Amino acid sequence: MFSKINSAGLFGLNAFPVVAEASASAGQPSFDIVGMPDVAVQESKARIRAVLGQLNLALPGGKVTVNLAPASVRKTGAMFDLPITMALLELIGVIQTGTDDAAFIGELSLDGTLAPVNGVLSMVLEASKNGIKRVFLPAANAKEASVAEGVTVYGAEHITKIIDHLRMRKMIAPEPRYMPSVDEYIGDEDFAHVMGQYAAKKAIETAAAGSHNLLMLGPPGSGKSMLAKRIPSILPKISFEESIETTQVHSVAGIIDPRHPLVTRRPFRAVSHTASGVGLVGGGSIPKPGEISLAHNGVLFLDELPEFDRKVLETLRQPLENGDITISRAAGSVTYPCDVMLVAAMNPCPCGNFGNPKKKCTCSLNQVRAYLHKISQPVLDRIDIQIEVSPVDFDDLSQRKPQEPSSAIAERVQRARDIQAERFKGTGIRSNSRITSDIIAEVCAMSEPAEDMLKRAFEKLGLSARAYDRILKVARTCADLDGSQIIEKTHIAQAIGFRSLDRKYWAK
Ligand SMILES: Nc1ncnc2c1ncn2[C@@H]1O[C@H](COP(=O)(O)OP(=O)(O)OP(=O)(O)O)[C@@H](O)[C@H]1O
Ligand SMILES: [Mg+2]
Ligand SMILES: [Zn+2]
Repeated sequence: MFSKINSAGLFGLNAFPVVAEASASAGQPSFDIVGMPDVAVQESKARIRAVLGQLNLALPGGKVTVNLAPASVRKTGAMFDLPITMALLELIGVIQTGTDDAAFIGELSLDGTLAPVNGVLSMVLEASKNGIKRVFLPAANAKEASVAEGVTVYGAEHITKIIDHLRMRKMIAPEPRYMPSVDEYIGDEDFAHVMGQYAAKKAIETAAAGSHNLLMLGPPGSGKSMLAKRIPSILPKISFEESIETTQVHSVAGIIDPRHPLVTRRPFRAVSHTASGVGLVGGGSIPKPGEISLAHNGVLFLDELPEFDRKVLETLRQPLENGDITISRAAGSVTYPCDVMLVAAMNPCPCGNFGNPKKKCTCSLNQVRAYLHKISQPVLDRIDIQIEVSPVDFDDLSQRKPQEPSSAIAERVQRARDIQAERFKGTGIRSNSRITSDIIAEVCAMSEPAEDMLKRAFEKLGLSARAYDRILKVARTCADLDGSQIIEKTHIAQAIGFRSLDRKYWAK
């Protein structure tokens, strides 16, 4: 006796097809699961026996073996409960064959209730690619799964519903395809509440428009956290493709809301300075995504940057540069995407008032130095836009003049992002911050005065080649916000202005 049921497995974000093959042969009664199952899969034996008992069924007498093929790939997680059980049900004739075009994914409770599993979207997308037409899974996963094209999704609360469906007794209604539109910003943080701070607002607008990393440095109370919190209100809309990518990461991490299973706004992840390296960039024996990957296609916000462990900050260097992170483990390596806009805020010294014209700094120069140098040069190098935030002018604060609302800024950001989408069509690049050196000359054409200015700045300020490229990319965004095809002198000037901090504070 032999039966076969399709399923899917997951390692990191990588889904792969799995077939649960069950066979029974004469011999001492036994029940084994083979094919590189981990502990969680081994535990499913007990659950499956209990569920069969609930259904008043029993394993066939003799030797029963379930093989999870391909045997060369390690299987982790509880999602194989359902396919293994279905293979056994087919083996004992409770359901007939005819499930070749179907896949089954789900964890079982002892009473046969189906419990949701993580990473469903990745698994169903993979199944669809492999020709699967129908997917049966826990009801709580159905909405998320239905986002995948080309498969009909059947969600069930209990295994009996699936059995009844396959025996054509009572059919499960297919899950309607979930296709939410991209959400508008709905929070109530608005830039209209921030009085004055025009230079900081312009810098933030530019960062959001080109997805440039941003550092804000200033004394306590100058409004750095207030400004950062409002960034989600001006971010460009997330595309459907980006939304699927970010949803897959959130799904693997198990932080999807089953009622709204698609991420329809760019994530904004504020991370506490107590975060570990694993928490920030990912890891663990079965590598999980870190905050930087949960922020994929959105913002990673690190407030009070020098309070972070220096070693932890250094782990960000490669992921920020590459836009993805590979975690290697004995069980294999996993790559998670992390194309993020890093936003960081910090005081200039332990007391916070170094460089503040209005208050006296009480720190020694050594203390100031040590504090600033918690941020290494390579980390600073990766931050395109660095600005000083001074406490708001008394006049700006007291006059309470109406300030530009976030919606107006968001419109300009979106227009600049649309220009970039057109420019980078088919290249895989999504924003000016990711312009590669092979196309920089072509996409960052400058007027002659602009080129002169950049050349002079390069010589006078002793810029590195890397800094040169970064200034050019930011200038590209300034020009896009202006609707200008050519980068003009004023755009170069703005971009250089956004890089004055490291010379003022970090100069040797
Ligand atoms: N430009 C401004 N307009 C209106 N209110 C402001 C402005 N700047 C600061 N505030 C007020 O001051 C409060 C403190 O600002 P915020 O916490 O953002 O400062 P911070 O720079 O992050 O300080 P810290 O370095 O202590 O974290 C804000 O919550 C807000 O009420
Ligand atoms: Mg703050
Ligand atoms: Zn100080």
